[in-house]
Amino acid sequence: MKLSSANINVMVKACRKAAKTLIRDFGEVENLQVSLKGPGDYVSASDKKVEKILVEELQKARPNYSILSEEIGLIKNDEEFKWIIDPIDGTSNFLHGIPHFGISIGLECRKEIICGIIFDPIKDEIFTAEKGNGAYLNMQRMRVSSRTKLKDCMIFTGGPKEESEKSELALEEYKKFSSKISTPLRKMGSASLDMAYVAAGRAEGFFQRNLNYWDIAAGIIIVKEAGGLITDYSGNSDYINNRIIVATNEHINQDLVNLINN
Ligand code: 2AM
Ligand code: CA
Repeated sequence: MKLSSANINVMVKACRKAAKTLIRDFGEVENLQVSLKGPGDYVSASDKKVEKILVEELQKARPNYSILSEEIGLIKNDEEFKWIIDPIDGTSNFLHGIPHFGISIGLECRKEIICGIIFDPIKDEIFTAEKGNGAYLNMQRMRVSSRTKLKDCMIFTGGPKEESEKSELALEEYKKFSSKISTPLRKMGSASLDMAYVAAGRAEGFFQRNLNYWDIAAGIIIVKEAGGLITDYSGNSDYINNRIIVATNEHINQDLVNLINN
């Protein structure tokens, strides 16, 4: 069985088309590593190319939907439906030739995310979800893990990128986590794949502050439909506006929130 609805099919098709360019460019990045100039400019060009393909494909299939995308910003159209796009999530990995990054697309209907896809082109893994219809990894239904004790878990985090009050806070939070428990804390470098992996039961939790909406839009519906929980660091549900996210299986949310805070 797989998740098959009109919108999911549109998203999968757009990702598959963009993934061809992404895979080709990733092969080229590996060659550019040794050049003096490095692959920086090439990667931003690739980001824009992938975004253009996604936008074109989504607009072709749904001409009236609005679009919010990392590079181009907002294309205002229909107020009801909006695509939220991150063309390459995990750009630093991509830039260094590390095969762990993804395309992330969420679909909003009246401010609520109703569909999501996170597409890992290198491992050919497609994580999808639709409100009320469950979450899928390729053809398989997926569920969050059933581990209940934080000490047995795998937790992901990310950031901070630059110096700021917020990055100091993030470092404090990692310190609190790591000084109290031997649970592995990983920085994999792609927020959307971190959330997809929580949904697939590969990790039990993910926390990060200062994320943008396009980093997490698809992940939100995918984690929820896989049976997981999403809050901010206070256990509240205003995580999008607060730009703070804790995504977990159904058991460890409170314990993880307590650990980061106390
Ligand atoms: P990107 O690759 O699209 O930039 C790494 O911590 C993860 O967080 C990546 O998914 C990265 O997305 C995202 N991210 C976005 N803004 C960030 C920031 N200000 N600091 C750190 N990571 C950020
Ligand atoms: Ca991103």
